[in-house]
Amino acid sequence: MAYEFIITEVHDRAGLIRLNRPQALNALNSSLMAELGNALLAFDADAQIGAVVITGSDRAFAAGADIKEMADASAVDMLRSDLIGPWDIVTTIKKPVMAAVSGFALGGGCELAMMCDMIVASETAVFGQPEINLGVIPGAGGTQRLVRAVGKALAMEIILNDRRLTAEEAYRFGLVNRVYPVDSYLEEALNLANSIGARAPIALQLAKESINKAFEMTLTEGLVIERRNFYFLFASEDQKEGMDAFVNKRQPQWKGK
Ligand code: HXC
Repeated sequence: MAYEFIITEVHDRAGLIRLNRPQALNALNSSLMAELGNALLAFDADAQIGAVVITGSDRAFAAGADIKEMADASAVDMLRSDLIGPWDIVTTIKKPVMAAVSGFALGGGCELAMMCDMIVASETAVFGQPEINLGVIPGAGGTQRLVRAVGKALAMEIILNDRRLTAEEAYRFGLVNRVYPVDSYLEEALNLANSIGARAPIALQLAKESINKAFEMTLTEGLVIERRNFYFLFASEDQKEGMDAFVNKRQPQWKGK
């Protein structure tokens, strides 16, 4: 499919989505987000794809939601258009989704990265939630996901006082999985996506679902979900294949069935 604001590519089992509004540092307008949602759903439905990587440019993953698009909106405009509603698609994708972040990941850009399952950063990545400078607050999950990722104390500084995190700090505080030089972060993110994407697809889906439940449920409820998902996997051919391969000392061939 032809897109205006993103570019899609396939690298082995990894689907790659490049945010592509360089003149606006990949500011996330509603057309771009609609395209991103469509591309994610298409990769999710494609059996050849095991995992998805979202990236921007080396200079900017995304400098936030498009300020120019919303500057003159009224509250009723915002409520009626539900500008942020379509962003939720990112969190409905069943396959693992990774953000490969270089340069600015600010405001909605940081929130988009946090909606992903993992973040691979370049050494130049900068994470922040500068909405306070615009007289607003994060609106696509920043106040919730940042607290869960880095804790209350640091989240308060980042959101209330526009503290920005370097890639090294983001790694130290648990916001990102890995940090690489600019020259290699995307390749490393694709390697990680291919490594994960080659694994048993149904187990991947239920593992991701179970982990995400940890943010939404009590421990007791989450443990029930985990155990049911564990038992359910015994209905899959991949469970029989995986355990037979172990017992017979051979490599498993996953079918996603
Ligand atoms: C619209 C943006 C933009 C944005 C940058 N641009 N960020 N346009 N929305 N969020 C545009 C600039 O207007 C400019 O276009 C071009 O990109 C290059 O930006 P410069 O400012 O000239 O670059 P630089 O001096 O290098 O500064 C980079 C920057 C700065 C530090 C990232 O652009 C910046 O502070 N951007 C805004 C960051 C921000 O506040 N993000 C939060 C947005 S609110 P022109 O045409 O002028 O050359 C948000 C809420 C999310 O995300 C809630 C959910 C929807």
